[in-house]
Amino acid sequence: MRKTDNLTFYELFNPCKLLVGLLVVYLAFPLMSFASFDPGKGYLFAYTLDGSKDRHGLYMAWSTDQRNWHAIGPQHAFVYSDYGTWGSEKRMHHPYLYHDTDGTWHAVWGVNDRDATFAYASSKDLIHWKPQSYPPINTDGPILMPQIHKQGGTFIISWKNAKGQEAKSVAVQTSDFSSYTPVTPINTMDSRVTVEIDGTPRGGTVHEVSWEVIEKLINSRDLAAYRASLYRETTDQDPQRFADLEHLSAKVKVLADRKKEISDQLIGVFYEDINYAADGGIYGELIQNRDFEYHPSERKYNDPKWNALTAWEIQTDHKIDSIGPIHENNKHYLVLQPHAAGATVRNLGYDGIAVKAGEKYDLSLFAKEIEGDNVLTLSLKDAQGTTYGSTKIKVKGTDWKKYHGVIKTKSAGAKLFLEITLEQPSSIALDMVSLFPRNTFNNRTNGLRADLAQAIAAIKPKFVRFPGGCVAHGDGLENMYNWKHTVGPLEARIGQRNIWGYHQSVGLGYFEYFQFCEDIDATPIPIIAAGVPCQNSSTGGAGQQCGLPMEEMDAYIQDILDLIEWANGPADSKWGSVRAKAGHPKPFNLKYIGIGNEDLISDVFIERFTMIYHAISKAHPEITIIGTVGPFSSGSDYEEGWRLADELKIPMVDEHYYQPPGWFIHNQDFYDSYDRSKSKVYLGEYAAHLPGRPNNMETALSEALYLTGIERNGDIVQMSSYAPLLAKEGSTQWNPDLIYFDNSQVHLTPGYYVQKLFGNHSGTLYFDHQMQLSNSRGDVKKRVAVSSVLDESSNELILKMVNLLPVSIETQLDLGGFKLAPKVASLYTLSGHPDDESATPQHSEIDLNTSKTMNLKPYSLQVIRIKLL
Ligand code: AHR
Repeated sequence: MRKTDNLTFYELFNPCKLLVGLLVVYLAFPLMSFASFDPGKGYLFAYTLDGSKDRHGLYMAWSTDQRNWHAIGPQHAFVYSDYGTWGSEKRMHHPYLYHDTDGTWHAVWGVNDRDATFAYASSKDLIHWKPQSYPPINTDGPILMPQIHKQGGTFIISWKNAKGQEAKSVAVQTSDFSSYTPVTPINTMDSRVTVEIDGTPRGGTVHEVSWEVIEKLINSRDLAAYRASLYRETTDQDPQRFADLEHLSAKVKVLADRKKEISDQLIGVFYEDINYAADGGIYGELIQNRDFEYHPSERKYNDPKWNALTAWEIQTDHKIDSIGPIHENNKHYLVLQPHAAGATVRNLGYDGIAVKAGEKYDLSLFAKEIEGDNVLTLSLKDAQGTTYGSTKIKVKGTDWKKYHGVIKTKSAGAKLFLEITLEQPSSIALDMVSLFPRNTFNNRTNGLRADLAQAIAAIKPKFVRFPGGCVAHGDGLENMYNWKHTVGPLEARIGQRNIWGYHQSVGLGYFEYFQFCEDIDATPIPIIAAGVPCQNSSTGGAGQQCGLPMEEMDAYIQDILDLIEWANGPADSKWGSVRAKAGHPKPFNLKYIGIGNEDLISDVFIERFTMIYHAISKAHPEITIIGTVGPFSSGSDYEEGWRLADELKIPMVDEHYYQPPGWFIHNQDFYDSYDRSKSKVYLGEYAAHLPGRPNNMETALSEALYLTGIERNGDIVQMSSYAPLLAKEGSTQWNPDLIYFDNSQVHLTPGYYVQKLFGNHSGTLYFDHQMQLSNSRGDVKKRVAVSSVLDESSNELILKMVNLLPVSIETQLDLGGFKLAPKVASLYTLSGHPDDESATPQHSEIDLNTSKTMNLKPYSLQVIRIKLL
């Protein structure tokens, strides 16, 4: 097992922290004096807070006499239920804990009052739990109040199959909690007991245990509370925490002879279609619902305005038809049935269409006559009726044909719509109505919005991950991202419900993604579902347990191998020819493939992942496979994911963690003790989250501190990507993000500039350093970090210095081991108040001849680039 949370000697034994910790413990446990004696044995009561609106899990209370019970916490869950979709679904109902003779604790609980499954998890010490499973049970109705007993070598899990009088007891049997017998009736009573915890009667199970077990639980809860108190540290407390802190000085000596090679891929980007990142975002298309394929199911039938006509306003008779579509994958189209000339149809874009002055916009649509030919005038207009530009298209013929036009804008406009006026009263059909700025990134057809793509390119990311995130594994089996649906002619692609609650046109599909990577010289990192959807799926039954049926796995694996052929195969191969036909005969040179996205490491996952892993390794030993180790920096999926990585010798694993700034401050050494002989790491998703979820200087600098640790560990960490990347203002499902935008503006965040500074000033050789700070307080030292790398291609030494303190630091640099060239260095400074959300880096030049002393501003990141001889 890897280290989980890192606490240094200082943190554990700092007298000041210890006092705070003890105070917390004292307040929480008025009866703590019990902990100082050892009665030899005691009793544990396992229960939950059924009925609580907050997420709740398995709680413990202890007693020496079974009359007076003391909650360990209060409200410290030793394991949470991970079943069901995000939020309120993840409840633990009526847990039942069973202590086996071999010492293993087995827990079962109800997941809701609908699904034919229960949750099962096991633990050796009640602190570390194995990943949960939710066996699909072949039974009608819910599984209520499950309990475990053992007879011989067999476990019997029994439950009530209904509420109230009709409830019957039924059971399944298992010896391994993996396969279960069919359901049979059983004559059993609920054997939970009720005890009073903090004045409230709770149902649960009582266990006699050695006092050591209770003490360990109390200690683990105290440690968790102590860690939480560290991670809650924010700069709001700086005026008190650093009240006595005065101007600091530091000596930094970079050690030319203590160096190591580090990854040349450290900073990349995580792209996901979340927050309207693609349609309405970086994908250049300006028409929303161009193909009339929006469907109420994409909003779970909860939005009466979400349908084939979303974003369209039609002032004439019309219908949505599906007979004889342009393509079987694009079933719906619009039929206009005007009674007089001059009927109009409008598309409102994504909250309006923004255009620049004097630019060309390429219009295209598919149309066919129903009654007779027609002439369409297509104009960009605003609500006041002003026309910004227009074009005409003559529709002729009863077969679908693609028509083109160009609109040249007279002036800029922000909230326009595209109006189509029919000059004749004859009925026609329309589909794939599209409008793109001519000026896309790199002038690509079906291309990307130039300013957004440029902002990403400016980070100089070494790789681009795609298509996510959760979008990669989807909300239920049907929703797993299928790369084959996203290539080929636009009218033949298959759009789908986006897990984040809208429609994905997949106009920005695999081809556009690979092309973008090539345009910005970044390595593609596609992430493919491991045959299981997101463990937080809201459809498909028992959470992630609805993995692809085994009989479908061969075809699924073949799809992945086809993707590799599509990317790398010769132009005359089956899938390589699809790429060639799209305009890219040369292979894309795919080197990596990620399998799975922060999945629950269940048996269902392991079985499917292993099949995929072996198949790709065998067919394509040249491709580096990236595994996944769950959504957190510790816990059962992290541990089990790493166990699997060790077992299969997976070359690299994808770690994810979103944590408060305090976590990043106190875990800068997270990778220092990673075993260098094991899998490499791709830190695929991370970000510092403050309450309110801003992206400000505080979050950005805590990420910068952490990134100096990533550079130091660039021999084991190969890649990292902040997540998520893009967010449309007013349409976000997730904050913070790196780049915010509206239809015409791009707003770059402090976090963006940290990524850009690290991305633009990366190196391939890391040098150790010695730092002497004038103040030796641990909490001061933890907020100052330095890393030094050499960019071997330009022979420049790059120093990054982070100061997350409210005072400046006079920093004397000792670069004695290096031969500095022209003695003039470039300095980039990002600084600002911790709340500042719009700080930008400043560039200046410094003369290292006269001064090797730098003033490291309060709350700042400084990057110095020095040419070497
Ligand atoms: O980055 C946003 C989401 O966070 C990703 O889709 C998912 O992988 C993670 O939980």
